[in-house]
Amino acid sequence: MVKKNSCVFISGNGTNLKALLKNSKEYNFPIKIKLVISSNKKAKGIRISRMYCTDTQVYNFNNKLENEIILNELKKRKIKLICLAGFMKILSSDFIKRFKGKIINIHPSLLPKHKGLNTFEKSLKAKDKLTGCTVHYVDEQLDSGKTILQSKISIKKNDDINSLKFKVQKEEYITYSKAIIKIYNSINF
Ligand code: GRF
Repeated sequence: MVKKNSCVFISGNGTNLKALLKNSKEYNFPIKIKLVISSNKKAKGIRISRMYCTDTQVYNFNNKLENEIILNELKKRKIKLICLAGFMKILSSDFIKRFKGKIINIHPSLLPKHKGLNTFEKSLKAKDKLTGCTVHYVDEQLDSGKTILQSKISIKKNDDINSLKFKVQKEEYITYSKAIIKIYNSINF
């Protein structure tokens, strides 16, 4: 298998990053994580990235020049896929255009339901029977790109924000990798 060079963008704990790094070491997993970029120099995920000896860089994502530097770093490593994993910055539309169809994200809800932040709170408030996570392509609108894969989890009577977060995140670690396998054979990948 010819693995595709990939980059993961993070801002926080990096538990999804950890699952991706772990899976990417498997012979049959279709991506090789060549670079991790954090928008936050204090992100716990940076330590995880370094534990796996992955190139790790930090950027603020707030100016055009920086965008060019990042794009250059991606080009140098022949990056074919960018996985957003708990990445809290909005990418510029120019950046998204230049990586069209090659940026994916994981979101902790069954999109199109509950875009943005505080998804578990929103789910409980709406008295949803189901929650879950969605892996989707990234376009210029927030949490709106085409869905690649969703995983559903039923909400029990005694669930609260923490229990939902625990269950959904556990599911995310599996779903993100499954979604990557799913798009591996697609024409644009
Ligand atoms: C995940 O729940 C993901 O769905 C959301 O942010 C969280 C990131 O967690 N986009 P982590 O940094 O991977 O631990």
